[in-house]
Amino acid sequence: MALQAASLLPSAISIHKEGKSNASLKETSLFGVSASDHLRADSIFPVSLEFKKRKLSVGAIRAQTATSSPAINQATPEGKKTLRKGNVVITGASSGLGLATARALAETGKWHIIMACRNFLKAERAAKSAGISKENYSIMHLDLASLKSVHQFIDNFRRSGMPLDVLVCNAAIYLPTAKEPSFTAEGFELSVGTNHLGHFLLSRLLIDDLKQSDYPSKRLIIVGSITGNTNTLAGNVPPKANLGDMRGLAGGLNGLNSSPMIDGGEFDGAKAYKDSKVCNMLTMQEFHRRYHDETGITFASLYPGCIATTGLFREHVPLFRLLFPPFQKYITKGYVSEEEAGKRLAQVVSDPSLTKSGVYWSWNKNSASFENQLSKEASDTEKARKVWEISEKLVGLA
Ligand SMILES: NC(=O)c1ccc[n+]([C@@H]2O[C@H](COP(=O)([O-])OP(=O)(O)OC[C@H]3O[C@@H](n4cnc5c(N)ncnc54)[C@H](OP(=O)(O)O)[C@@H]3O)[C@@H](O)[C@H]2O)c1
Repeated sequence: MALQAASLLPSAISIHKEGKSNASLKETSLFGVSASDHLRADSIFPVSLEFKKRKLSVGAIRAQTATSSPAINQATPEGKKTLRKGNVVITGASSGLGLATARALAETGKWHIIMACRNFLKAERAAKSAGISKENYSIMHLDLASLKSVHQFIDNFRRSGMPLDVLVCNAAIYLPTAKEPSFTAEGFELSVGTNHLGHFLLSRLLIDDLKQSDYPSKRLIIVGSITGNTNTLAGNVPPKANLGDMRGLAGGLNGLNSSPMIDGGEFDGAKAYKDSKVCNMLTMQEFHRRYHDETGITFASLYPGCIATTGLFREHVPLFRLLFPPFQKYITKGYVSEEEAGKRLAQVVSDPSLTKSGVYWSWNKNSASFENQLSKEASDTEKARKVWEISEKLVGLA
């Protein structure tokens, strides 16, 4: 039955085993430790909450401000050291992986989550339905498809007075059935513009805030994907990720005087998503090379597993959305629940054993994390440098 169902799938099906060989069905698009160099502070010290509430004057935004007390406070009556709550910004926390991660972190009582979302009401409802207590989250508006909105988010965040301890670049769109490209506010093809360029600007600017944090383990995490890695079977399902010589990216991806695709080719929505994920993984490594030694910040990427039920597939054809989850659950066995994937990303945010920088994390069948190999292209240092330099120009930083 399952096999029959699989053969009916119109597109986008692959069988994959994390980081290993895979077998594939017909497909057109998608899916297929290290020593700690930080204190195990969160396991040593109990947590003390030091937030005070203040209303911001920015539209409907509700935010909480933190006092500027140090991350580790020694002033308890018993003379014990305490660690304040960590502040983590998660983009796209209104659904799927981002929401599940927010919930997993909130449940520990050790984190305040700043849900950076484009739809305030949706995020508020999502936080409520996930049972996240009000004192554990704030919502701030962020539309990654607008560089102006990225700047506004950063202004709002800084005005809140909260220190930034961890940034998670999670939000993404996937437009596999689009026949024509769509564009961001500044005219970049929408998938790369949102998933890569919006996050690139956000993280390039917020690195200064991370640097200022006195939290014992500061991290910048950019969610990657198996689909951008051509060293897996899932990554070999056409159309494959390929940045080529980046002539389209250098031309601004505007579809007018340059191609909307990074490699300069014809528009393909599924490929644009995969290319954007390659950019995400290259950006993480370039951050590591440029900033890790100087700042001690941990830079990481990950593939959380195939979370076939999330809104990422909302633009796909209905039959695909119906059959993709059972296909991944019962045939490829590559499926992970949103809850499990959220726990995985939460580990990369807070687990004291996952502080090695420059790593692309994956999980085996027993849900144990391991350092996975990126494809040749997704680990190409020259391409990483080029993506960085062109992206800096496109977002107005160079
Ligand atoms: N699902 C998988 O199998 C899978 C596998 C590997 C990697 N990933 C990665 O996991 C991450 C999360 O995806 P998901 O599966 O959880 O999908 P999802 O449920 O669709 O979540 C995507 C999130 O991104 C937000 N978003 C989209 N465009 C945005 C914009 N312009 N500005 C701000 N936020 C925006 C969405 O906001 P709205 O709620 O407003 O739409 C949503 O909260 C992505 O990076 C994806 O590449 C997913």
